[in-house]
Amino acid sequence: MSRFIHLSSLSCIALMSTYAFGQTSYAGGCNPLNSTCPIDPALGTTLNQTFTAASTQLNPNLWNVTAGGEAIQFGANGAELVISNPGESITAESTFYIQFGQVEVMMQAAAGQGIISTFDLLSDDLDEIDLEIMGGNTSFVESNWYGWGNTSQFNAVYHPLNGPQESLHNYTIVWTKDQLQWIIDGNVARTVPYAEPGQYPQTPSKLKFGIWAGGDSPQPGTVAWAGGKVDWTKG
Ligand SMILES: *[C@@H]1O[C@H](CO)[C@@H](O)[C@H](O)[C@H]1NC(C)=O
Ligand SMILES: *[C@@H]1O[C@H](CO)[C@@H](O)[C@H](O)[C@H]1NC(C)=O
Ligand SMILES: *[C@@H]1O[C@H](CO)[C@@H](O)[C@H](O)[C@H]1NC(C)=O
Ligand SMILES: *[C@@H]1O[C@H](CO)[C@@H](O)[C@H](O)[C@H]1NC(C)=O
Ligand SMILES: *[C@@H]1O[C@H](CO)[C@@H](O)[C@H](O)[C@H]1NC(C)=O
Ligand SMILES: *[C@@H]1O[C@H](CO)[C@@H](O)[C@H](O)[C@H]1NC(C)=O
Repeated sequence: MSRFIHLSSLSCIALMSTYAFGQTSYAGGCNPLNSTCPIDPALGTTLNQTFTAASTQLNPNLWNVTAGGEAIQFGANGAELVISNPGESITAESTFYIQFGQVEVMMQAAAGQGIISTFDLLSDDLDEIDLEIMGGNTSFVESNWYGWGNTSQFNAVYHPLNGPQESLHNYTIVWTKDQLQWIIDGNVARTVPYAEPGQYPQTPSKLKFGIWAGGDSPQPGTVAWAGGKVDWTKG
């Protein structure tokens, strides 16, 4: 049976849009901590996308679908990211970068134990600002952040939210040089000041969203974090 996310609208506001640093995509292998990289393209404007049944694809000028593109559908609730079998995942990442700004999505997360819905900012040197929703947890969503990919920093926080898999919710991340905020349905769920211990995210980042089966990971720790093994026979 299928697991799916609905995204009805998504917007992205680059506050400091003229910044473009010497970096390119991590997937392309250029990490600016260790190399001199090409310049990042900045968004440089406000973008607001609404997905409807009439949409046919994610605009390829804005979105690079790096996994599962054929499994993105459009319906009354917007874009549907559908996975149905072990090993499947869908990832879309922006072709542009922002360094500080606001990103917002109206999203209904996927249901199902072990299925993870994600809405993240990720830079080429692995600064990361995350929103992650476990399909099996109907009363909490997780925020997290990393600097320079240092996973020894434990920054995950769980926020109570009723039924993220049942309906659309507004997840907004406001990222400035001074602080990082997650705002859920208009309520500030978390504020991380620059001075928080650890490497604060402060490099140009792509917006990424998708769905994956954390419960199918070969790593027991990841399966436990995801809320358990995926049972693909359940809808
Ligand atoms: C899309 O992602 C792939 C895989 O990471 C990469 O090779 C390609 O250059 C990207 N394309 C664009 C337009 O960013
Ligand atoms: C940078 O290079 C060093 C030395 O080769 C390596 O240990 C480190 O993992 C690299 N860092 C990143 C973020 O790629
Ligand atoms: C983006 O468009 C949607 C749908 O029209 C609207 O609800 C939302 O308020 C807009 N967001 C911004 C930031 O303009
Ligand atoms: C949901 O997440 C909260 C916070 O981590 C945890 O206490 C709870 O046990 C989780 N519930 C399920 C069903 O996994
Ligand atoms: C990674 O974070 C841990 C915990 O904050 C810290 O002790 C360690 O020094 C950091 N490592 C690097 C390479 O910054
Ligand atoms: C989502 O929440 C943000 C932050 O509270 C707010 O600015 C925005 O208008 C909301 N968007 C929608 C579509 O409700």
